[in-house]
Amino acid sequence: MKAAPQSALLARLEHLLGAGGVLTAESDTAPLLTDQRELYRGKAVAVALPDTAPRVAAVLALCNETGVAVVPQGGNTGYCGGATPDESGAQLLVSLRRLNRIRAVDALNYSLVAEAGCVLADVQRAAEEADRFFPLSLGSEGTCQIGGNLSTNAGGLHVLRYGMMRDLVLGLEVALADGRLLSALTTLRKDNTGYDIKSLFLGAEGTLGIITAASLKLYPRMSAAATAFAAIRDPRAAVQLLARLREASGERVSAFELIPRLAVELTTRHIPGVRDPLDAPHAWYVLCELTSARPDRLDTILTESLEQALGAGLVADAALARNEGERAGFWKLRETIPEAQRRDGASLKHDVAVPVAAIAQFIERAGEWVRANVPDGRLIAYGHVGDGNLHFNLNQAPGADRAAFLARGEAIKRVIHDMVVREFGGSFSAEHGIGRLKVGELERYAPPVELDLMRAIKRAFDPNGILNPGKVLR
Ligand code: FAD
Ligand code: MLT
Ligand code: ZN
Repeated sequence: MKAAPQSALLARLEHLLGAGGVLTAESDTAPLLTDQRELYRGKAVAVALPDTAPRVAAVLALCNETGVAVVPQGGNTGYCGGATPDESGAQLLVSLRRLNRIRAVDALNYSLVAEAGCVLADVQRAAEEADRFFPLSLGSEGTCQIGGNLSTNAGGLHVLRYGMMRDLVLGLEVALADGRLLSALTTLRKDNTGYDIKSLFLGAEGTLGIITAASLKLYPRMSAAATAFAAIRDPRAAVQLLARLREASGERVSAFELIPRLAVELTTRHIPGVRDPLDAPHAWYVLCELTSARPDRLDTILTESLEQALGAGLVADAALARNEGERAGFWKLRETIPEAQRRDGASLKHDVAVPVAAIAQFIERAGEWVRANVPDGRLIAYGHVGDGNLHFNLNQAPGADRAAFLARGEAIKRVIHDMVVREFGGSFSAEHGIGRLKVGELERYAPPVELDLMRAIKRAFDPNGILNPGKVLR
């Protein structure tokens, strides 16, 4: 392996991809060289835009031969800097955005084959056009891509019913470091033939191969939904309400999100069109939704369950969406929390998971610590309570010094992650991955045997270390 002079590399790339397939002008590349939270600003020798899977594989063969590191990029909405090249200027960014065809939709088999650069919302739409439903749903769905969703094993709003991205995959096509193309685009539901190789690429954040296409599971299209925005007594009541709703609806709860008062205040202040669904303020809320493929009595089930919960003191008030516009309004409030937080000032994010039943205790313990120790921060703990996944975020308090607040981020993170992992048996990265941001956290908390196995897998798939070096593993 030898490092190629830049001009020779660019000439060979242009030969493989055509002139429009390689970007070098700063005006074209700059927007791709920083991550969405603006934590990192990288440089790249060029941006490659392959438009077929064999061309992705050919780019990898060239990079493997010449010792050029490769950073795959999808929609660049990831939170951990995984899609940003380092500062050396020697890495090649490979954007998958031109690999964006839906190759097949099979309504009878409840499956769809999409290329890695398809935007998630386009895949949802393709499923709907076939009278089917693709359940992955995230606030970033208008921008993030299937390849990024697979590579981060994305979670989002429907995990409690349908699982994470990993659970929605039937097969993969992957370009390997040495330039071979692994074609395993099966649409089989059952296939116990040796190791499940495809599962290794899910959540690997581009460190083991570049995913070029995936066959995905579909579900019946939903035809009924009942959605409520309910003020609850406290987070403990949220978990109790969820348990009741799962029973009462026969497992038709498709989303159950915890929202604190501050999130309502920030979204109504910063996001045009968001309004508080309830008349009086409350400390905590849940946004819950039941869905069904049949025209079921979901409104009645939800109303009766909320009335019972009101009687039991779990719920203080609730608004049921009366039409699609109100439903969209509730969801807009939830999905724009990250954007509202960003507009409000600096924030420190902790994407943690604890067992569902321990959520309330965690919020009490960690919240107490924050109130006592971070006077310049305001806690905004929200998220996928049905999965035990909280975005335990802190925003800079009004008038606080931004730099001083951010400077304490490492120390705050240490306390919160230690509490999550060591006291609650939880995870310091529930759904956002490791990227570059959490490499040290993985080294600190992963069992040494697991780290050894991860390094062995990395060596086996990428012996020359060209695939997204410095991400996930050092
Ligand atoms: P990118 O950011 O481009 O890349 C992410 C990682 O995957 C990088 O390491 C990159 O190298 C690698 N990669 C990308 N494409 C490929 C490929 N084809 N082959 C191999 N590796 C590849 N995440 C959640 O899980 N749940 C949420 O609810 C959620 N909500 C969000 C809301 C907002 C407003 C925003 C901005 C982000 C949110 N995210 C959420 C985070 C983010 O959207 C997801 O992680 C998403 O899956 C990233 O997809 P992407 O295409 O943008 O990937
Ligand atoms: C969400 O669920 O909104 C995101 O995963 C969390 C975030 O943006 O911090
Ligand atoms: Zn989330």
